[in-house]
Amino acid sequence: MRKIAVIGSGYVGLVTGTCLAEFGMQVTCVDRNIDKIAALNQGKLPIYEPGLDQLVEKNNHYKRLEFTTDIKTAVEKSEVIFIAVGTPAKDDGGADVKSVLQVAEDIAKYINGYKVIVTKSTVPVGTGQKVKQIIRDILFSKNNHSNFDVVSNPEFLREGSAIQDFFKPDRIVLGVESKMAEKVMREVYSVPDGHGIPFIITNLETAEMIKYAANAFLAIKITYINEVANLCEKVGADVKIVAVGMGMDHRIGPKFLQPGPGYGGSCFPKDTKALAKTGRDNSVPLTLVEQTIIANEIQKHRMIEKINSIMDNLKGKTLGVLGITFKPETDDMREAPSLVILEGLVQKGAYIKVYDPAGEKEGKWRFNHIKDHLVFCHNAYDAIKEADAILILTDWPQFKQLNLNDIKNQMRGNYFFDFRNIFERHVIEAKGFQYYCVGR
Ligand code: UDX
Repeated sequence: MRKIAVIGSGYVGLVTGTCLAEFGMQVTCVDRNIDKIAALNQGKLPIYEPGLDQLVEKNNHYKRLEFTTDIKTAVEKSEVIFIAVGTPAKDDGGADVKSVLQVAEDIAKYINGYKVIVTKSTVPVGTGQKVKQIIRDILFSKNNHSNFDVVSNPEFLREGSAIQDFFKPDRIVLGVESKMAEKVMREVYSVPDGHGIPFIITNLETAEMIKYAANAFLAIKITYINEVANLCEKVGADVKIVAVGMGMDHRIGPKFLQPGPGYGGSCFPKDTKALAKTGRDNSVPLTLVEQTIIANEIQKHRMIEKINSIMDNLKGKTLGVLGITFKPETDDMREAPSLVILEGLVQKGAYIKVYDPAGEKEGKWRFNHIKDHLVFCHNAYDAIKEADAILILTDWPQFKQLNLNDIKNQMRGNYFFDFRNIFERHVIEAKGFQYYCVGR
């Protein structure tokens, strides 16, 4: 079994390291954050991902998974080293690869034999070559003749179903430059029952590009259906049926055609901006991607305007908000539409009562600047109590089970904004609400 180090124990690093340990690999997860490593060593995870805590506990127990701040030892004893550190957006929209390059330097210092260094972080095209150059220069300066290969292996994990995605990926993309590196990586990914999972073996640049091109395409697809939904509303069409009709065409496919308040999360907003920036830098403007970024912002503001115009004037009105995370089954609020929408509602004078099954902790500091107008509640019923309107921003499955009679009885008003289209109009209207959704 291969010995593996994963540098960066954030979302991607932790899921990758844990799942590779589950394959039977010997994995060391590294992070420079002492508190995070100490917590992980006590079985406390810094993120919420269904099923991850049990897998961490199990592989820790069988001594296939360990956590440390000691990058030196981890590099020395591993043959394959994944770089899984963050690449946050810079002010100009480009991805900041500082941490990736710093880790490359750190790895180079401790190389003591053949290593395969794998970039898992989402990095702009050309970063793999930079990583290679940094390591080559450091080895040269130290008169270290060790061989190494750099591999680009982008991740396509969806939050909330990351483990399932890791074990049953649609494809595994490997940008490799040597037969040896390909052999090692194929072994690392000898997924149990993984026969039939296609490998795409290509060069570093193509692998890096696949990740951005795929994510931007999905962001465009969502934005397209959002705009179609907005038009459906005006012309009396039902976007849900339009999406079904479109999705039955195999060339289009039914997924990612659910309209909503705009896409969020750690990937789509960042990756679309970074790809657009790479286009501008290369004098190849990606106009569709640029417009998608703008349209997604407009969509969030459209939701504010919609509520404001329907409720006439928001001053002094209370909204019971269900769901603030960027999607269900996560506590992640990065770029969540709720950030813009709730701030906009408060600016118009509204009071907000929030319930989210997992988002309260992060929501508390993210909404700190509007805390005078926003309170967190322990359940959905508390959030809608005495409210003038109910507003659903995240499609947590449990919201579908709510007792609508109880809700109606406890609310002051009867506005029902379902911006994830989780209910049917006739059901909600039959309870005496005024129902508003997206595109129907
Ligand atoms: C995404 C990609 O799916 C994954 O492959 C990549 O590696 C990381 O980015 P993730 O950010 O976890 O994963 O979420 P995803 O499920 O793709 O949803 C992203 C956003 O799009 C969410 O805000 C979601 O609500 C929104 N969305 C998605 C829609 O509004 N409509 C849809 O039909 C699908």
